[in-house]
Amino acid sequence: MIKFHWKHIAIALAILPFVAVFVAWIGFFNIGASTGHWKITEWFLHLAMRSAVRTYSLAVEVPERLPIEGIQPAAGHFARGCAICHGAPGEPRSPSVLRMLPRPPDLAPVMGTWSDAELFRIVKYGVRFTGMPAWPTQERDDEVWAMVAFLRALPQMDAPTYRELAIGGEGGAAMPANDFETALADCARCHGRDGRGRSEHVPIISGQRQEYLRASLEAFAERKRPSGVMELAAVEADPRLFSDLARHFASQPPVSAPAAGSSDAARGREIAERGIPERKVPACLSCHGGAPRNPVYPKLDGQHASYLKTQLRLFAEGKRGGTPYAHLMEQTARSLEADDIEDLAAYFSSAK
Ligand code: HEC
Ligand code: HEC
Ligand code: HEC
Repeated sequence: MIKFHWKHIAIALAILPFVAVFVAWIGFFNIGASTGHWKITEWFLHLAMRSAVRTYSLAVEVPERLPIEGIQPAAGHFARGCAICHGAPGEPRSPSVLRMLPRPPDLAPVMGTWSDAELFRIVKYGVRFTGMPAWPTQERDDEVWAMVAFLRALPQMDAPTYRELAIGGEGGAAMPANDFETALADCARCHGRDGRGRSEHVPIISGQRQEYLRASLEAFAERKRPSGVMELAAVEADPRLFSDLARHFASQPPVSAPAAGSSDAARGREIAERGIPERKVPACLSCHGGAPRNPVYPKLDGQHASYLKTQLRLFAEGKRGGTPYAHLMEQTARSLEADDIEDLAAYFSSAK
C-alpha cells in the first residue's frame, strides 16, 4: 500500500498547474457557448459572483438618500450603455443577447435581490468573465449612485415613463451620429434642444460660451474630464460636429436655474467679487465675469446650484479635469470651505 507522505502531496500540488495548462493546451475544455455551462459550473459561478459582491459591498459608503434627481440622465445613459444587453421597459433583450453566457438578466425582476451597496459595487466595477462592464470612469461615484437610483425605480417603471426619461419628446434614438441632426437629437435626450437640461443633474448649456462648450466636448471624448455619461455621448458623436453643436447651444437664449435653498447668496456674491484674501481665494468674477479674459472660461450665472457644488467638489478632489485651463480651478476649489461653496452656488445660480 502506498503511504501518503507530505512530500507526495507537495509534489502533486506542484504538478497540478502544469496538468491544468496541459489539459487547456490540448483543447480539452469546451469553450463553446452553445450548450451552456454544466449546472454545477453555473451554480458555482453565480455563488462566487454573489458572494464577492456581498463581501466587497461591505466597504461601500451608502449616501443618506439616493440622488433621485439624477434618474433622468441615468436613464439616458442606460438607453445607450446598458439596454443593449439588459433590455429596458418595452424593449426586450435581442435574441443574440439571450445566447450570451452568462445571459445578461432582465434587471427589473432581480432588483429586489440586491442591496443599494451591492448594486453600486456591480455598476462601478462590473463583473469579470461575464461581459458586464465597469463604469467608464472610476472617479464619478455620484454618477454611479444616480444609476443605482434609476435601477431602484426600474421595477415600477412602465414603457412610456422609461421612454420619456431616456429619450423625451425632442430626443432621438441613442446611437452613433455622423450628422448634425442625429447628434443634436442625441444631446436633446438629456440637454433638450434648447440646452436648458431635463434634470438639475444636467448642466444648463444654453447661452454658455461656444469655445468652452467645444473644448469641454473634446475633454470628455479624450477622457480628460471624467464622466461616464458624457464620455459615451461625446465619443459617439463625430468630433467634426463638436463646433456646430457648441455653436447651436451657445446661441440658445440663456436661462436661470430655479432659486436654491436658504444659503447666503449675498455672501456668495461678495466672494465672487472680491475673493477671500486671507485664504488666497481669488475673485471668481475675474475669470467668470462678463468680459472673460479667455473664451474658454465658462459662465456660471444661472447654473444649477447642485451642479456647481458637484463640480467644485470634483475640482477640490482633483477629479474634475477639463480643458487645458482646468488646473486654474483646483487650488481655488481646495481653499473653499463647505459654507463658502453653498453661498457661492446660491449666488451664481440666482445671478443673471
Ligand atoms: C455587454 C453586455 C452588458 C452591458 C453593456 C451591461 N451589462 Fe450588466 N450584466 C451583464 C451580464 C452578462 C451580467 C450577469 C453577470 C453574472 O450573472 O455573473 C450583468 C449583470 C448586471 C447586474 C446584476 C444583476 C444580476 O442579478 O445578475 C446589474 C445590476 C447590471 N448588470 C447593471 C448594468 C448596468 C447599469 C449597465 C450599464 C451601465 C450594464 N449592466 C451594462 C452584461 C452587460
Ligand atoms: C445621457 C445624458 C446626456 C447626453 C445624451 C448628453 N449629455 Fe452632455 N451632459 C450630461 C451630464 C449629466 C453632464 C454633466 C457632466 C458632469 O457632471 O461632469 C453633461 C455635461 C455636458 C457639457 C459640459 C457643460 C459644462 O458646463 O461644463 C457639455 C458641453 C455637454 N454636456 C454637451 C453635450 C452634447 C453636445 C451632447 C450631444 C452630443 C451631450 N452633451 C449629450 C448629460 C448628457
Ligand atoms: C484664474 C481663473 C479662474 C478663477 C479665478 C476662478 N475660476 Fe472657475 N473656472 C476657470 C476655468 C478655466 C474653468 C473651466 C475648467 C475646464 O472645464 O476646463 C472654470 C470652471 C469652473 C466651474 C465649473 C463650471 C462648469 O460649467 O462645469 C465652477 C463651478 C467654477 N469654475 C467656480 C469658480 C468659483 C466659485 C470661483 C471663485 C471662488 C472660481 N471658479 C474662480 C477659471 C477660474
